[in-house]
Amino acid sequence: MLQEAAQYLKDKVSFMPETGVILGSGLGGLTKEIQILHKIPYAQIPGFPISTVEGHSGELVFGNLEGKKIVAMNGRFHYYEGYSMEKVIFPLRVLRLLGVEKMIVTNAAGGLNPDFEAGDIMLIEDIISLLPDNPLRGANEEHLGPRFPDMSSPFDQAWMERVKHVLDQLGFDLKKGVYVGVQGPKLETKAEIRYLRIIGGDAVGMSTVPEIIAAQHMGMKVLAFSVITNECIPKVAKEFTHEEVVAVANMAGENLVRLVKGVI
Ligand code: HPA
Repeated sequence: MLQEAAQYLKDKVSFMPETGVILGSGLGGLTKEIQILHKIPYAQIPGFPISTVEGHSGELVFGNLEGKKIVAMNGRFHYYEGYSMEKVIFPLRVLRLLGVEKMIVTNAAGGLNPDFEAGDIMLIEDIISLLPDNPLRGANEEHLGPRFPDMSSPFDQAWMERVKHVLDQLGFDLKKGVYVGVQGPKLETKAEIRYLRIIGGDAVGMSTVPEIIAAQHMGMKVLAFSVITNECIPKVAKEFTHEEVVAVANMAGENLVRLVKGVI
C-alpha cells in the first residue's frame, strides 16, 4: 500500500522534495508562503486514511519555500480520532518512500512548565510516549528500518544548532523541553498534570509522538516544535475550548512560520 501511494504521487509530482513539514494547528499559514506547484488531497491518494473531521480532509502541498523544494502535510491524523497507529504514520512513510529525508514536525500543546506562557514556541528536545500503542508494533518492515530503533537522540543535533542562528535573526525567545504524547481526546485532570510534570514533561499534546518514532525508525532527520496554546498547570488549570487553542495557535503560529522558513 505504501508503494502504491508513493507511485501515485511520483506520477503526479514533477520533483521529489528532500524536506517535509507536518503542519500542526496554527501552522497552516505556512502554505501561504509556499510557491505551490502541486496540491494533492489526501482523499485522492491510495491507502491514505479517510478524514473523520468535516472540512479537514487534508492535502499534500508540494512547492518551493525559500528556494528549497518541500512537501507540506496540511493536516494530520491523530490516534484519538480512531485511526490505527499504522494509519496515523502512513503519510509519513509514503513521504520517506518519495525520498524525503528531513522532517519538521509541529503541533499545538499545553505548557506544563510553569515558565511557559500561552503563545510560546518550544523546541522539542525529547519525548515521552504515554500512548497506549506504538506504530512499530507488529512485524517489522525491514525495508523501512530496524526492529529495535535507537531512540536515545530522536532529534537531529546539528539541525537544532542551526535553529539558534535563525533565532538570532528573528529575535524571539524559544523555549526548549520534553513533549509528552498522550492519547486524548480528553484534556488532563489536575492530578495528571502534576504527574506529567513529575515525570519530566514540559508540554503535553495528542500528536507528534507516533510520527517521531516512525521517522526515527526510517532514519530521517527530525526537528520538532510545539506552539504552547494554553498553560497546563494545576494552579490555573481551567476549562478551555478547542477554539481558544486554535486561536492562540494561529497567533503564535506566525512566529513559528518565520522560524520554520528560516530553518529551511
Ligand atoms: N493537553 C493536551 N493536548 C493539548 C493541550 C493540553 O492542554 N493543549 C493543546 N493540546
